[in-house]
Amino acid sequence: MSNHNFPPGPEGQGKLGCLPEMRANPMEFLEQVALKYGGIARVNMGAYYSYLVSEPKLIKEVLVDNYDKYKKNTRYKQVRMVIGEGMLLSEGDVWKNQRSHAQPKFTAKSLDKQVDWITALAADFLDTWDSNAKENKPVELEYQFNLLTQLLAGVWVMGEGFKPRAQTVFSIYNQIRMNWPEMTDLRSTLLQPKNLKKEINFRKALANLNKCVYSLLDDYSNTYENDIGFLKHLLPEGVNDKSAIKKYIKNNRRSLRDQLLTLFVTAFETTATSLCWSLYVIDKYSEVKQSIHDEVNQVIGLQAPTAELLNKLDYTEKVIKESLRLYSSVHSFSRVALLDHEIGGYQVPKEMTVIISSYVTHRLPEYWDDPHTFDPSRFDKQRTVGRSRFAYIPFAAGHRNCIGSYMALMQSKLVVALIAQRYNLTLCDGHKVEKHAATTMRPKYGMKMNVQHLAA
Ligand code: HEM
Repeated sequence: MSNHNFPPGPEGQGKLGCLPEMRANPMEFLEQVALKYGGIARVNMGAYYSYLVSEPKLIKEVLVDNYDKYKKNTRYKQVRMVIGEGMLLSEGDVWKNQRSHAQPKFTAKSLDKQVDWITALAADFLDTWDSNAKENKPVELEYQFNLLTQLLAGVWVMGEGFKPRAQTVFSIYNQIRMNWPEMTDLRSTLLQPKNLKKEINFRKALANLNKCVYSLLDDYSNTYENDIGFLKHLLPEGVNDKSAIKKYIKNNRRSLRDQLLTLFVTAFETTATSLCWSLYVIDKYSEVKQSIHDEVNQVIGLQAPTAELLNKLDYTEKVIKESLRLYSSVHSFSRVALLDHEIGGYQVPKEMTVIISSYVTHRLPEYWDDPHTFDPSRFDKQRTVGRSRFAYIPFAAGHRNCIGSYMALMQSKLVVALIAQRYNLTLCDGHKVEKHAATTMRPKYGMKMNVQHLAA
């Protein structure tokens, strides 16, 4: 392409362009860019440019109409080091095989069959908050939900063998998270002692995580028989006795590790963070809390939630969807252009990074009245008519959309319902809540809540 027809956008200042603003607050900076420059904008990031595509029609052009002109952005080596060549980052035939093989395990029909054991594990976990309620001790929701969703994801992905390792994996993963490079570290040198120490700790934690997963795989031939986990599904047909399983695992250790860790990591942190925000808004708006308690009371009462009952929690589902609109745990994702082409009449050069930010698109005033207001009735059937499917993208869209969206919604409804059956959660006085763009959009200072037992 010779005629440069680039979209408008901010240049920022000096050599670093907009990088300082992007580092300081990427979500709000990109929101301002979209409001000022429109549905496609070119942002000077210092050493390179990126495009922000926020208009739903153009998001469709990237993710659907021109999907074959992009690959996933795999520039962040830490992500690749943890999850390797699993479904999130793989490409081409490797991805196609992984995705089509996994798909049947992610359907509503298949996941609904798992609800009973998930309910039992989650209920036991939430019962441990009893002592907090009795002793007036707050719970740190982010920490608790990470523990819970790791347990649920770990057992679902790796089987029963995960349970005795859950606590170890949790503390290792905390080390990984604490030593994950912040945006501000990304371009700075390893020669800085702080970053070097982080990198060393990160690698140590990763080695421990690998050791733990490999030991689970090595033991698997002893525990596979009653297993309900995804790992069993990864064994090819005919590999169904102890020695065949042992041999298969020995020959495919790295690939199995990557596939398991990909599903584990993509499942737990996103769901934990989004649950945190859901409980935050439920507490913030007293009428929402009351309506949730009423619905759970009416539909489920004090029984254990089943798949059938969870599917009847219409209002609760709308609250979770609206919470995912304002607090999408995956606040943005990106693609890299494989060749020169056009989007929305503008030139997209080969190698260009295209950012799609659900944070931004979910706040576009053209698609969302009063976009900063929390309003679950936006998801009433009649109000969704005519709204572009690409205006609401917490789970992305197109062929690389989130395979776990049903699982995430089901687990979120389940946990909200189990809490509504047991407790009243209220944010601790003075606890500061701020959004922070880490690997997911986390509450910067965690989410400390008081737990009160509901009167029987
Ligand atoms: C609220 C919770 C969740 C949110 C907000 C979320 C969001 C997303 C988003 C935005 C993507 C696309 C990323 C990209 O294109 O770069 C994605 C991909 C993916 N998600 Fe989720 N997710 C959630 C829960 C889950 C769960 C429970 C699983 C279950 C294992 C899961 C597994 C995956 C996988 C494997 C991919 C990659 C799919 C592919 O590339 O084919 N996610 N998710």
